[in-house]
Amino acid sequence: MPKLIKSQDPDALAADMIAEFIQQKPDAVLGLATGSTPIGIYKKLIEKNLDFSQVRTFNLDEYVGLSQSHPQSYYHFMQENLFKHTNIKKENINFLNGLVSDIQKETARYEDLMRQTPIDIQLLGIGTNGHIAFNEPGSPQDSTSRKIVLSQQTIKDNSRFFSPGEKQPEEALSMGIQSIMAAKQIILIAKGQNKTKAIHTALYGPSTTDCPASFLQNHRNCIFILDPHVDI
Ligand code: PGA
Repeated sequence: MPKLIKSQDPDALAADMIAEFIQQKPDAVLGLATGSTPIGIYKKLIEKNLDFSQVRTFNLDEYVGLSQSHPQSYYHFMQENLFKHTNIKKENINFLNGLVSDIQKETARYEDLMRQTPIDIQLLGIGTNGHIAFNEPGSPQDSTSRKIVLSQQTIKDNSRFFSPGEKQPEEALSMGIQSIMAAKQIILIAKGQNKTKAIHTALYGPSTTDCPASFLQNHRNCIFILDPHVDI
């Protein structure tokens, strides 16, 4: 079962854990997330002025059809919120490419890379519908990286990041549940009252495809860090 930590400051706690790890293992392999949840963690990591010169990263997901330079792409998000403020090497940043025509080949490439370079710490948020990365309800435990059609709930939740009239992608490439579960350690962060139901189901519900985060119950080294607004 995941270890549960309630914290007044999940960002500081998660950043301290990641920083300590990088100090011990300078070539740490980090699995990184986007969305509003990790922004504060990245800010704190930047403030720590860590040496990222040997750190390798894999991001969870990317929208289909957006180039890396598109302001709404997750690659761009990572550049703005973390990478450009560190000395990470471009060649050590791994991303699914949402522009490719051969998705099978692209997702196989990503899975191969993760097998060769296993993720030490995977940072995760959680969707209000219990998704992790873009693994929407219905995603099987043995799923690997693939194209996902986003649920209406996710499209609605993420609409706040898009300006009125701006086209919002409805598909993404995402690591699968199995890809995420392969990480040696998982840190899931949830903030806000609106995550209460998803967290409750993930922790105490049955481990089923209805709530993809519930599969984390089966991980050996998983921590949930919740802010005081998550009502558990
Ligand atoms: P959020 O999204 O961090 O923007 O709340 C989390 C998620 O959908 O995984």
